[in-house]
Amino acid sequence: MKNDAATGSGYDVLIGREMISGEIASLGRELTGIYGGETVVVIPLLKGGFMFASDLVRCMDADVQIEFLGAASYGDETETSGEVRLTLDTTMPLAGRHVLLVEDIVDSGLTLAYIQQLIRSRRPASLRTVVLLDKKVTRRKAVAEIDHVVFEIPDRFVFGYGLDSPGGFNRNLRDVVAIRETGRG
Ligand code: IMP
Ligand code: MG
Repeated sequence: MKNDAATGSGYDVLIGREMISGEIASLGRELTGIYGGETVVVIPLLKGGFMFASDLVRCMDADVQIEFLGAASYGDETETSGEVRLTLDTTMPLAGRHVLLVEDIVDSGLTLAYIQQLIRSRRPASLRTVVLLDKKVTRRKAVAEIDHVVFEIPDRFVFGYGLDSPGGFNRNLRDVVAIRETGRG
């Protein structure tokens, strides 16, 4: 099976699919409790947030609307230049609405900080941010407010489960993986 990291070579599976789905189910229950009878506009941040968001909304028992935002940062293949640009904007006004922003990974924090500022400028009733992966490193360059982190990960370049590898592939892997570190015996 081509999109099956578990059988691929050259990857380390950092977070397997069962663990991902278990944690997302529990986050979904928590968000169901938070939004209760309210309508919430869920915004996957593209491209990387699409898979996480699609699994998460299926675990939420709430009135969900979907909008999309796209962001990209200029830079080389594994490190951000710090300059973020908007690649896709929402179609619906966010003023007075409860917004849930769904992102794949936070590293420097610049992408999230930029997008959160944009959303706040539109005066939503509330803004929560959920992030699947947090690289717990000291590279943070911007303060982003993150309400829920699903997994903290080491400082390795990861891909799969929505995130792309340097060649622009592998977003469709079911696990979060990293390139195998060699030369360690
Ligand atoms: P930040 O702006 O430095 O926080 O980086 C966040 C963005 O960079 C994420 O939305 C990802 O698109 C991308 N990114 C950061 N680290 C990784 C990684 O390890 N794998 C794939 N994409 C990453
Ligand atoms: Mg991203």
